[in-house]
Amino acid sequence: MANVAVVGAQWGDEGKGKIVDWLSSRADVVVRFQGGHNAGHTLVINGVTYKLSLLPSGVVRPNKLSIIGNGVVFDPWAFIREVTAIKSQGVDVSPATLQVAENVPLILPVHSALDKAREEARGAGKIGTTGRGIGPAYEDKVARRAIRLCDLGDEAVLKEKVDALLAHHNLLLRGLGAAEMKPADLLDPLREITPQVLPYASVVWKTLDELRRAGKRILFEGAQGSMLDIDHGTYPYVTSSNTVAGNAAAGSGMGPRAVGYVLGICKAYTTRVGSGPFPTELFDDIGELIGQRGKEFGVVTGRKRRCGWFDAVMVRQAIKTGGIDGIAMTKLDVLDGFDEIKVCVGYRLDGQELDYLPANAAAQARVEPIYETFEGWKDSTQGARSWAELPAQAVKYVRHVEELIQAPVALLSTSPERDDTILMNDPFQD
Ligand code: GDP
Ligand code: IMO
Ligand code: MG
Repeated sequence: MANVAVVGAQWGDEGKGKIVDWLSSRADVVVRFQGGHNAGHTLVINGVTYKLSLLPSGVVRPNKLSIIGNGVVFDPWAFIREVTAIKSQGVDVSPATLQVAENVPLILPVHSALDKAREEARGAGKIGTTGRGIGPAYEDKVARRAIRLCDLGDEAVLKEKVDALLAHHNLLLRGLGAAEMKPADLLDPLREITPQVLPYASVVWKTLDELRRAGKRILFEGAQGSMLDIDHGTYPYVTSSNTVAGNAAAGSGMGPRAVGYVLGICKAYTTRVGSGPFPTELFDDIGELIGQRGKEFGVVTGRKRRCGWFDAVMVRQAIKTGGIDGIAMTKLDVLDGFDEIKVCVGYRLDGQELDYLPANAAAQARVEPIYETFEGWKDSTQGARSWAELPAQAVKYVRHVEELIQAPVALLSTSPERDDTILMNDPFQD
């Protein structure tokens, strides 16, 4: 019985939360392994909407364990806010059901301040980050000066680390013309939040090892998507972590064989929020219509998402670079009623045809999509729960996409509701 990793195969917001929630009925534990509260995952269960950023999407199911792995960047204040909010929706969350890796690096207020100041300084060249401090927190991790959850329990170590951290950050703040920070500016709020977050700290690699050896099923939940991956995405318009399933093991403290089936999530079209290249972006009424019908506004920042046709070249590339075994295609219903639907099957660059997205940022911005045009369908797919309910043209569309991306569609989603999902091939049984 394979464990399953769920990852985005586009630029994020593919519907990972919905699919992880749906799949979590088959799993014992759900683990987040990268990213932070830049993520926004939406679950709709019997008409009730849950919005999660840092908490694994399995948290709403009773009797499942949720884990935040070491590969995440962890904002303790955002964590407590989210735990409080989800509890107020009637969800039971406690250290018995939710564990956070004791070696997770913290996002501090100085990180979000730096994130925002840098974006402002970039002006028109801004990345369009979520402003949550994700990039600066990962920088401190890699530079070996991060404060980690376990440090909160050791006052002497914490003080020393805050001093070292500020020696670096005050240089940056001075350079940006911003006010410098005193150790107490960090230590006081950290001391205040410590009793609330420390009870969740745990040796999660041990927990996961024990669960694995007991034959329990693990579901790894990715955030963002392949094209936002720090190596494989549209660099520098990316997030600051590896979003591909290759990071699921390292980001949770397990070996690569712990990850079995890799399920990539993609929409039946494409969206992107923030700046950066987007070859199939639509600037016309069709793009507007997709955005309206798909309710394409960000969960975290409320920003309007850019919309375009499905890019089979990009998703195929995500499948190859991320080792994706099968796809869950979401939002097929948003394409209902279009006369024709286009799919990008190649790029044109300087008179040459390409079957992949080149790494060079200037080239990525210049590639022109080569489209195949499909006849649309008039009947509704919305809420369909079986393959037989789908119009013939919709089935044709999905089958052709499978050929283009060279991977099977294992799941299809036809509305935001948990159970409006068609299972073709159970990832846990594969
Ligand atoms: P995530 O970040 O990948 O978890 O995705 P988000 O939650 O940010 O964005 C996906 C949005 O699409 C959410 O509002 C979901 O409720 C919604 N959604 C998911 N699947 C479907 C679907 O099949 N059809 C429609 N119409 N909406 C969906
Ligand atoms: P989920 O998990 C869509 C984008 C931001 C920006 C870039 C860098 O909901 O799919 P960051 O704050 O990470 O430094 O921003 O990445 N971004 C996302 N876009 N979905 C997300 O998460 C995203 N998380 C970050 O818009 O372009
Ligand atoms: Mg999202």
